[in-house]
Amino acid sequence: MIALELKEIPYDRIRAVEWENGRLKLIDQRVLPGKFEHLYFDHLPESARAITDMVVRGAPAIGVTAAYAVVLAARDRYAANPNNWRDAIQADLTLLAEARPTAVNLRWAVEKMRGLISAGISDDPVARLLEAAQRIHAEDIAANHRMGQLGANLIEPGSGVLTHCNTGALATGGYGTALGVVRAGYAAKRIKDVYADETRPWLQGARLTAWELVQEGIPATLIADSAAPHLMKLGKVAWVIVGADRIAANGDTANKIGTYMTAVAARYHGVKFMVVAPTSTVDLATHDGSAIPIETRAEAEVLNFGGTRTSPEGFRAWNPAFDITPATLIDAIVTEKGVVLNPTREKMVAMMSS
Ligand code: MRU
Repeated sequence: MIALELKEIPYDRIRAVEWENGRLKLIDQRVLPGKFEHLYFDHLPESARAITDMVVRGAPAIGVTAAYAVVLAARDRYAANPNNWRDAIQADLTLLAEARPTAVNLRWAVEKMRGLISAGISDDPVARLLEAAQRIHAEDIAANHRMGQLGANLIEPGSGVLTHCNTGALATGGYGTALGVVRAGYAAKRIKDVYADETRPWLQGARLTAWELVQEGIPATLIADSAAPHLMKLGKVAWVIVGADRIAANGDTANKIGTYMTAVAARYHGVKFMVVAPTSTVDLATHDGSAIPIETRAEAEVLNFGGTRTSPEGFRAWNPAFDITPATLIDAIVTEKGVVLNPTREKMVAMMSS
């Protein structure tokens, strides 16, 4: 059993995904900030459904959840038939990998666990897989702490920054990617002012980033997504800091819808643009951004606000959940392996193999 890293780093007090008494425990992110509730899961199919329904969301958090879900499936399949569990679990792994399409961390975690299963673990596979899932979780937190330092070091003391979506403890194993840089940068006084996009339509910024920053006591200001270019024009921010759901081999980056327009506006206004993501988000098998599948979610997420219909009945909506920011608009990609400035295919491959 691997002990998760102690929460001894400043501003690191929230865990969205936990393994507790043989169960998967998730903060229900659909109801924050109005309610703070945990849901418990004992089986893989309901854990996969929790990913699809966004009880848990954020690329690394989905990956960590998936790893624990494989443990639940192994327990069920091994109990049902210890001689056949390795074959029986394959359908579970496929179901899990398809829970959401864009974040590559989900497939990355499933393939890691599948590799262990195929490698022939036999004596107590559940304990062995739990150890692997906890390692994935602990390594994600450690990567975030490292990226927090690396990203913060790029920022001039006293700067203002803008972040999009929620990339914090709720979206990861803990601490966060882009919001990890915000945490580290604020602790080091490099970041003075934090602005958070509300992130229509699911409001990851208004609901989740705002909730996290309130929990940590980090002051921040919420803006409508469409206010970002005006904020930049007024010189309020030096950096936009975002996470990623998948980074292609050439550095093109899929992230929450609205990231691309923010990157375009940043370049126009001379504001720097930083992508922060662990190497489990980098997919060298994806040639460029055009090959990244973009999830389309329910029209209701756009047609309603807070559960109330805001557009007339009979009207339609289009709801792509992610967009692609080309590498040419990105000034820095920060992973736990280091910082890639002005990313290119060659630099990304070199960073990954370092
Ligand atoms: O649809 P979501 O909320 O899962 O989308 C999350 C994002 O786009 C995040 O910015 C990304 O996963 C990076 S999280 C560290």
